[in-house]
Amino acid sequence: MGEKMRLDRLLAECGEGTRSEVKAYIKKGRVTVNGKAVKDNGLKIDLENDEVWISGHQVKYEKFRYFMLNKPQGCVSATKDGLSATVLDLLDGEITRDLFPVGRLDKDTEGFLLITNDGQLGHELLSPRKHVDKKYIACVSKPLEPEQMSAFEDGVDIGDEKLTMPAKIRRISDETAAKPDGIGAVYEVILQEGRYHQVKRMFEAFGSKVEYLKRISMGQVVLDETLAPGQYRRLTADEVEALRRG
Ligand code: URA
Repeated sequence: MGEKMRLDRLLAECGEGTRSEVKAYIKKGRVTVNGKAVKDNGLKIDLENDEVWISGHQVKYEKFRYFMLNKPQGCVSATKDGLSATVLDLLDGEITRDLFPVGRLDKDTEGFLLITNDGQLGHELLSPRKHVDKKYIACVSKPLEPEQMSAFEDGVDIGDEKLTMPAKIRRISDETAAKPDGIGAVYEVILQEGRYHQVKRMFEAFGSKVEYLKRISMGQVVLDETLAPGQYRRLTADEVEALRRG
């Protein structure tokens, strides 16, 4: 026997209406469980084995949901914000009540943001102890010297109690590719932790300003480049599995 849930709650959680709306549907006989119309709002549904239909379509309960958002600049990685749009506002048409972004990207950072209701996976992906790689592309105002790049790999003093954990850094532009004025540079940076403004503060420690930042992967899962900023899609089962493996 699988996990159980009240019928009215199940229907509401699956987006079939508010609790009172779904109660009205049940009363009208529009809901069947294993082929029989039911009138009991509180009927306990076996989430794995019972078949629930409403108004001619089957209701599929998913305990955990996973979305990959290409976060655009200008919205905040929070579930609520008094002023700005949040990343959840972009999941138009989804039931966002129990969803949250896994970690924060700054308001002006773009790229891969995982949004889920799986608290345990979210926690594991963010824990520095789990060593999950987060890969960023950073366009910066000033190239780093070789010894500054080595410092990224050894740990940088960004004004916190501890140095940053060893990070990987690789230059991915030649000197003129970065910006029309030819001054800046583009780097790929891989971190296993996620302190406040970390990438920006690591470059700042060497007098270089991050002018554009995009996260392109988390663990083995890479941002789907067909997603324009602001677009999202469900993770595939393989991607969820890859994140679980870390
Ligand atoms: N590092 C930053 O500085 N900002 C982000 O949004 C993510 C990592």
